[in-house]
Amino acid sequence: MVELQNISKRFVFHKENLTVLDNINFKIQANDFISIMGKSGSGKTTLLNIISGLCKPSSGTVLFNNSKPKGFFDNYASRFRSDSMGFVFQHFNLIPYHTVLENVVVPLKFSSLPPKHHKRLGLDILNQLDIHDKHHHYPHMLSGGQMQRVAIARALIKSPKLILADEPTGNLDDHTASEIIDLFVKLNEENHVALLLSTHDRRIIDRSKDTYSIENKCLKKVDTGDPVYQFSKSL
Ligand SMILES: Nc1ncnc2c1ncn2[C@@H]1O[C@H](COP(=O)(O)OP(=O)(O)OP(=O)(O)O)[C@@H](O)[C@H]1O
Ligand SMILES: [Mg+2]
Repeated sequence: MVELQNISKRFVFHKENLTVLDNINFKIQANDFISIMGKSGSGKTTLLNIISGLCKPSSGTVLFNNSKPKGFFDNYASRFRSDSMGFVFQHFNLIPYHTVLENVVVPLKFSSLPPKHHKRLGLDILNQLDIHDKHHHYPHMLSGGQMQRVAIARALIKSPKLILADEPTGNLDDHTASEIIDLFVKLNEENHVALLLSTHDRRIIDRSKDTYSIENKCLKKVDTGDPVYQFSKSL
């Protein structure tokens, strides 16, 4: 579904050069559930932003359904991102002056679905995430877990084939985090949505099907059954 070929990212700021990702090769297939770990500053958000098109790689290519893009603003890549991918950002990125419902239906703005159906679809999704009673509230009136649900609802509104979520349990208490993890597992198992989640949360890593780690600018597959990994987990 998505393939990264030789992706590198270098930030240049005030003549300082910072290479964050160095020659990453990686594939996401239908129905995958992949977690990406790595310490703070290792490049997890940068990697997700490159896949989501928010950040331009310094070199390398991101292919969608094997289609080689013609430049960063390639039409097919943009359409795939908009129609088949949902995004849950590290800091939610809800629009403060929009209600919950208005936030959730934002991705429908340029869709072919007539606006008169947006509200019903938005309420349906909010209902599935058990937060429909807050549809007329504004983001600042919500708890962290509720904001996370709204962010996930917005990612789901176009029934994506792939969801990218950046530390989706990072700001949540244990109980709410468990509920959100169950929700992702359900989306993957029952709705066959592929997931790419960046996380420090062991519970996500344990329930994902594959785990990678960004170390020294490179992406490495982690064998979570490895005794060394299991030992480090118990520390
Ligand atoms: N726009 C930018 N300009 C300069 N440096 C940047 C920029 N964006 C990110 N970086 C740097 O790139 C590195 C990777 O950042 P990134 O946000 O991808 O890390 P992360 O793994 O997501 O960390 P965390 O777990 O804290 O969210 C950091 O050193 C960061 O300071
Ligand atoms: Mg991050």
